[in-house]
Amino acid sequence: MGKKRATITAVGHYVPDRVLTNADFEKMLDTSDEWIRTRTGIRERRILDDGGSSDLAAKAIEAALENRGISAEELDVIIVATVTPDMFFPSTACLIQEKIKAKNAWGFDLSAACSGYLYALSVGAQFVENGTHKKVIVVGADKMSSIVDYKDRTTAILFGDAAAATLLEATDDNSFGIQDTILRADGSGGVHLHMRGGGSLHPSTHETVDEGMHYLYQDGKAVFKVAVVGMADVSAEILERNNLTGAEVDWLVPHQANLRIIDACANRMGLDKSKVMINIDRYGNTTAATIPLCLSEWWQAGKLRKGQRLVLSSFGAGYTWGSILMRWSFDKAKQ
Ligand code: UT7
Repeated sequence: MGKKRATITAVGHYVPDRVLTNADFEKMLDTSDEWIRTRTGIRERRILDDGGSSDLAAKAIEAALENRGISAEELDVIIVATVTPDMFFPSTACLIQEKIKAKNAWGFDLSAACSGYLYALSVGAQFVENGTHKKVIVVGADKMSSIVDYKDRTTAILFGDAAAATLLEATDDNSFGIQDTILRADGSGGVHLHMRGGGSLHPSTHETVDEGMHYLYQDGKAVFKVAVVGMADVSAEILERNNLTGAEVDWLVPHQANLRIIDACANRMGLDKSKVMINIDRYGNTTAATIPLCLSEWWQAGKLRKGQRLVLSSFGAGYTWGSILMRWSFDKAKQ
């Protein structure tokens, strides 16, 4: 008997109600709707007023469980991709486990910023593929508004809050599920995108707060140059090594950091824009949540169908980046 393959068997997401539009930013900062739209593709983003990433994640997981028709007690593992954990410890996974009453699950947080979901999906798939665990929930959850400096126009306009969850289970038919994975890291990029304060190197003090070290820092131009090449390269590479052309891909599911990066990636793969999942206009960059949020929305709309071939691609802080090739295994109607 061949090795089992892991496949996504349910999706669910949650975005907070409060909408922060480009027009709102025009009142807060020296910026314009036109600049934000043309440079990033973003029109609005969602903001969570009360609670932490675990609250976003718990709601997303509950939606996924409902879509699958199972209870939280059936979960074996909870993997949380986040750079905005509720607190250093206990892990966000433990906080979620208590919130959703997943009393038979263990779990952990995984930090890989915008590539967090792909890293977590890859780790979760190992548990399913080696047969030690049957139901693994992988959730990308970030409350980016908790680390954004709303006085800094170069970063404030980019980010939003959201969570989205995917359930991984084994498939009997190996033509479905995760087919190939490429994950990369280059720590030399850390200088361009980071949050320095509050960790063991610079524990929070009045001085670190005065210096704004508890905020996300990004040199946008430096990151853009590497991201636009890195995400396109890795997406093209996964096609090449699986002897596929863009024409054989049904959906590119890219990390939503900047529409110009997404377009470059699609061009490099030879993909028509109609085959690219894009919701950056409505949510901005929700870090670990972007890719599963697309999957959940497109599945819910009936546009993500059984048998379709997907390439998931990301680039983010670390630097971390990667690509996952999969075949989708369930239609909405059958849920
Ligand atoms: O998800 C994690 C990975 N992150 C990314 O992939 C993000 C990558 N970077 C980007 O998406 C883009 O670099 C940004 C959207 C962040 C910035 O776009 P850009 O085209 O690279 O702009 P820039 O930083 O080169 O700035 C161009 C100009 C500057 O003015 P000067 O120096 O030319 O006079 C900025 O000060 O635009 C100015 N600017 C703004 N103007 C109006 C920067 N932010 C704003 C703003 N509104 N919000």
